[in-house]
This record gives sequence, C-alpha cells and structure tokens, in this order.
Amino acid sequence: MKFDIDFNVSYIKEKIENLAKFTDPNIPFTRIVFSEQFYDARNWLKKEFNSLNLEVSTDNAGNLIGSLKSNIKTEKVVILGSHIDTVPSGGRYDGIAGIVSSLCVMKHIIENDISLPFNLSIYDYLGEELNDWSISCVGSRGIAGLLTEEILNRQNSVGQVLKDEINKIGGNTKFLDKPLSIAKNIIACLELHIEQGKILEQKKINIGVVRSIPSISRFNVKVIGQAGHSGTILMDQRADALVASSEIITFVNKLALRLSQESNQHFVSTIGKITVSPNAAAIIPGKVEMTIDLRSSSKSSREQYIKELEEKIELMNKTGTCKIDMNNIAYAPFVEMDKELVKLFKDSANSCGLTNQIMDSGAGHDTAQLSRLVPAAMIFIPCKEGLSHCPEEHAEILDISKGTAVLLKMVENLAMLNRA
Ligand code: GLV
Ligand code: MN
Ligand code: MN
Repeated sequence: MKFDIDFNVSYIKEKIENLAKFTDPNIPFTRIVFSEQFYDARNWLKKEFNSLNLEVSTDNAGNLIGSLKSNIKTEKVVILGSHIDTVPSGGRYDGIAGIVSSLCVMKHIIENDISLPFNLSIYDYLGEELNDWSISCVGSRGIAGLLTEEILNRQNSVGQVLKDEINKIGGNTKFLDKPLSIAKNIIACLELHIEQGKILEQKKINIGVVRSIPSISRFNVKVIGQAGHSGTILMDQRADALVASSEIITFVNKLALRLSQESNQHFVSTIGKITVSPNAAAIIPGKVEMTIDLRSSSKSSREQYIKELEEKIELMNKTGTCKIDMNNIAYAPFVEMDKELVKLFKDSANSCGLTNQIMDSGAGHDTAQLSRLVPAAMIFIPCKEGLSHCPEEHAEILDISKGTAVLLKMVENLAMLNRA
C-alpha cells in the first residue's frame, strides 16, 4: 500500500496551522479545556469529521468522536486519539500532532476505500492537560471509569463544578460511575505524540515505541506563616511563609536528584505552581500554596521520596515558625503498554523502513489512563530540543508524517489480525 508522504506533509501542515489559530491571542498557544478557544477548536474538529463523512458524537465523558463504520456488522472498534487542549502558554504539537495524524490516517483509509473488520474512531480526549480542577486526562479517565464523585464535584478557582462543565460540552456525568460501555469493544487505543524529550532527536531515530508511562503524583502544600509589616518586624521574629516554602523547594529538588541517580529509572519532581499571599513588596508573606508534581517509574523511589518529604515537613512543623500541610491531590499509577500492541507498533515501524526504539515516556498521557482497562499503546516522534509545554515547542512536519505512516500501518496490521 503506497502512502503518499508529499500529500501527507501539506495536509498535516495545514491542519496544524489551522488549530494553532485557536489560541488566547495574548498568550500563544493557550487553549485551555472548556475555554472559548477550546469550544471553537472543537467546532473546527467537528467540521473536519463532517468533511470526512464520519459519524460525529460526544460520549458521556465529553470526548469528541468521529467514527467510520465498518462495512461488516461489528461493535469492535480501534481508536486513534489524542487531545487538542493545551497548557497555558503551551505549544502547537502536544496532543495536536496525534489528532492531525489520526485525521490523516482516516482520510487515507476513506479515500482508498480500505475495508476494515472493525469500526475506526478518532477521539479528542477531553482535557488531557492538568486543569484548574487539579485533574488531567478527564475524558480518558471517564472511559476507564476512573472519574470519582469526588473528582466530578470539584470546584475550580472561580467556583465552577467540573461535572457541570463536562455536561455542558455534551457529556453525561450520571453514567460515569463505571467504564463506558464502549470499553468492552475496544481492540486497541493508539496514540501518536511528540516525545517531549530529547532522546529521538539526539539519536536521530524516527519512532519511539512506548513501553511504559510513569506514575504521576501531585501534592498540594500549604504554608501558613504570619503576614506583617516588612519594615518593623525584626528578622528573628518572623513567620515568613515564602522563606519556609523555599526550604521545601530546595529540599524537593535535591531529594529528586538523589533518588533519580539512585534508582536508574525515570524519576523527576517539580514545583511549578506557587501562590504567595498577599504578594506585596512591603508585606512579609503570610501564606504560600504550591503544587508538587512527581513522576516515577519506580515504586520504591516514589515511596522513599514521600517518606523523606513527610519527615522533612514534620521536622519543620516542630522546629519552625510556620505551619505546613501537605495533601495528595492526584495519583495515576505507573503503567505498561499492551505488549502485543508494542510489538505490532515496532513491526509497523520496521515495515515502513523507519528507525525505531522501545522507550519509556516521561510525560503523562491519555494512553496511560486507557491502558488501565483496555489494550492501548503509543508512539513518539522527535521534537526540537525536547522542548514542550512552551511556545517554542516544534516538530518537523516530515517527522509527524513518518509517524502517521506507522499509525496507518498499525491499523492495517490490526485489520489483518482481526479478519475472520
Ligand atoms: C501531560 O502533559 C503531562 O503533564 O505529562
Ligand atoms: Mn499531550
Ligand atoms: Mn501536555
């Protein structure tokens, strides 16, 4: 089967440029889930689905779906998917590359009249990025029955309830107490994504076949001190919440560095969100809230990290002037991709004549949530200098195109395996 790479390149380029236009104009590229730009981009995607004559729907978890029915009668489905939402001031490829390559595969299958023994669907998984409700992968968790009442009832910083937003976009949260019924019919969930790291670019390898995705834990830390006049309260009489927080930030950074060296597995931790109150030059900081993000492929290193961090906070509470509270607000376990799909992805890359290597993901993905319940796997393509979650994020269209060829080959291989 010939796959026209030239045509592919211009199609992919055009669609990526189209999606990049849906951004908060003051902070490119920002398309936060449920924002006006997100709704606009979803309407654009619906039109793309319509122009391919796909059946368009939104499932109970708020995922937007474009489906091609098999011409044999079957409930079985192969899902191609990723996400169109971004982080604040994010990039043009994270998630988007996967959506556009899925459109490209679908278009190729339709135009070449390739018959499949399963239905083929494209999913824009709702809200993959961490949001103001402190949860990521909303739609994929919904498919796998992992959106608890507690998560659905969370309020964001302006008092909006998560489940109301899911319902507004077309979901139905009444039915999210168990996996969606589609789950039992899923043959495979496949995702193409930019690597968001430097390995493929540095080694000049076309395709990363993902073997595992690390656990993600997030902790909210509240540091309560005492606000006061910055000119009058003497240095030895202060309870400065920001000074105490900076001790925690440094501690976390050193601890993660040590454990990453000791464990030899993926292990990183970041404090990337912090609010200081009242945040004024002439006032001693009275309160700080920050979020710790921890990614680990090693269970024992994760446990060691939490133990040492809790001990540090206990010690600071006993001996310091501030009161510190730490709460676990999110957890997604370490997962391995479906082994047969990993092998098939590798075979697909080989038969496309593309260099490839098995690798572990550093970032979280919808595929991680899905693989907790159904067969799922993903591939990476290189991105420039590993930059991601920033406007400089860049992937060569030709590299996306090569990944698209692998995705198509994968669908063809699954078709061969599933033919009666
Ligand atoms: C997803 O983008 C993540 O935070 O890993
Ligand atoms: Mn992503
Ligand atoms: Mn992301």
